[in-house]
Amino acid sequence: MAKTIYVLNGPNLNMLGTREPDTYGSATLADVEKLCADTAAGFGLKADCRQSNREGELVDFIHEAYARKASGIVINAGAYSHTSIALHDALKAVQIPAVEVHISNVYAREEFRHHSFTAKAAFASLCGFGIEGYRLAIKGLAAKIGAAKSSATSPS
Ligand code: DQA
Repeated sequence: MAKTIYVLNGPNLNMLGTREPDTYGSATLADVEKLCADTAAGFGLKADCRQSNREGELVDFIHEAYARKASGIVINAGAYSHTSIALHDALKAVQIPAVEVHISNVYAREEFRHHSFTAKAAFASLCGFGIEGYRLAIKGLAAKIGAAKSSATSPS
């Protein structure tokens, strides 16, 4: 059976495509989830994509990833990245290799975006690549967990 990775998106990321396009681009969350599914498939992985505007539900998704023996997590916790000790603690609790993604370059933006609690619980962080960051995160995660490129669907 294919290994599963969880792709978790936090608050306001359901608004991608219409939300501040100068900052976040024109791709929708559906586009992001397709990109993730296709990239994961290229490594023989299944991407289970979830989005929530609620902190506790994101914590629940992380626990669910553990219960379902997920092999990795890609997380863009949106604004909760900068505020949520609960998400930090959940990631630490499950000990699943996690990569943090931000679509925008948070370091070139307001100072309150420069600190991330989720980054402290992740083995890697990416920001500023637009939605391409999700593809890069899955590639890096695949390397980390030893998932080889699948000949059926080769990732670009
Ligand atoms: C974001 C950056 C956060 O600061 C912001 O609150 C978001 C999106 C990003 O993907 O660039 O909601 O995580």
